[in-house]
Amino acid sequence: MLGSNSQKLLENFFKSQLKLGIIAGGQLGKMLIQEASKWDITTYVMDTDERCPAGKIASYFVKGDLKDFDDVYRFGKLVDILTFEIESVNILALKKLKEEGLIVLPDPGVIELIQDKGLQKDFLKKNNIPTPDFKIFNSKDEIFQAIRSGQIKYPFVQKLRKGGYDGRGVFIIEKESDMKEIVDLPSVVEEKVEIKKEVAVIVARNEKGEIKNYPLVEMVFDPKANLLDKLICPANVSEKENKKAVEVATRVVEKLDVIGVLAIEFFIDKEGNVLVNEMAPRPHNSGHHTIESVQTSQFEQHLRAILGLPLGSTELIIPSVMVNILGEEGYVGEVRYEGIEKALSINGVKIHLYGKKITKPYRKMGHITILDKDINSAIEKADLIKKTIRVIS
Ligand SMILES: Nc1ncnc2c1ncn2[C@@H]1O[C@H](COP(=O)(O)OP(=O)(O)O)[C@@H](O)[C@H]1O
Ligand SMILES: [Mg+2]
Repeated sequence: MLGSNSQKLLENFFKSQLKLGIIAGGQLGKMLIQEASKWDITTYVMDTDERCPAGKIASYFVKGDLKDFDDVYRFGKLVDILTFEIESVNILALKKLKEEGLIVLPDPGVIELIQDKGLQKDFLKKNNIPTPDFKIFNSKDEIFQAIRSGQIKYPFVQKLRKGGYDGRGVFIIEKESDMKEIVDLPSVVEEKVEIKKEVAVIVARNEKGEIKNYPLVEMVFDPKANLLDKLICPANVSEKENKKAVEVATRVVEKLDVIGVLAIEFFIDKEGNVLVNEMAPRPHNSGHHTIESVQTSQFEQHLRAILGLPLGSTELIIPSVMVNILGEEGYVGEVRYEGIEKALSINGVKIHLYGKKITKPYRKMGHITILDKDINSAIEKADLIKKTIRVIS
């Protein structure tokens, strides 16, 4: 059912008067604004840092803390619809704004669930969605006790319930001597999966219940740095694994009742089981290639979905590989990029620089998408580019 609020929203859009609020102003916010600007949507972005990537290109920048009730509430009052590029937002403020009639998408309830890896895992289990076995603990002592009583066995993975990202907040415990790494915070402990491949699927859903999924992306990790090395689309998986991931992703987006885009990370284990790792109800790093390589980018799709517009085609135009541009180890300070000219001399290279003024080791400063009809050639170019581009200070 389309509410009168949604109709008013579209009416504002058709009159070029739509005000879209985005929390916060990182690279995902920036790329969402780049799409919104094509449709003459007036964008408001809230972040604590006025030099944030989205700050310069938003129609209006509002300084505010996403965890602060008053800041989020006041920001919501400025706009017709509120959406997110990050989950760690003050939920009470979102719920109050919703109660008072603001369109908040995805729903505050979804954001609340995703903020907490414990609630995410409970949701998956309750809905019979395949995910690694897990238990929830409140403290380090509880984990030690569970080991002594044989409830959990090595190897396992400890994940903080809240606040982790890009591998921070995830601790792989292979054996007893790794137990010094255990953190004394509420966490999920799950079995360590023998991973064959990690893949991600982005699904979009609008208010009418229309659903579209993007082609599977393969996430290749650098085993040494335990960091994402590259993203390959389409993923090299079997027909069966592909079908399973899309089926599960569709079930998750429906059960979670997400409106907008939802990214789902999967493990494919050595036996070919397809297990959900984690979810994010927003555009995602694993979907950046869609800007150039798919008919509808994940950012345009998110706008279509939250505005109640028809979803766009997710057909692949050309295979692609995406690599993040990370701050080099040993450099902190005003950024300087090296190797841009050489990278741009390679066919099919698209460079995105987020506009972060200060580089730090492993900070995501930008990304490069390589388009190539031949995926193996794209992979080779990606490996070359990783050695060519340097972010120093
Ligand atoms: N149960 C597990 N078994 C094996 N490896 C895991 C497991 N959970 C996480 N990992 C590894 O750690 C990475 C980060 O974990 P993830 O839960 O995705 O956290 P983040 O929010 O930091 O992305 C995964 O991409 C995977 O490589
Ligand atoms: Mg992850």
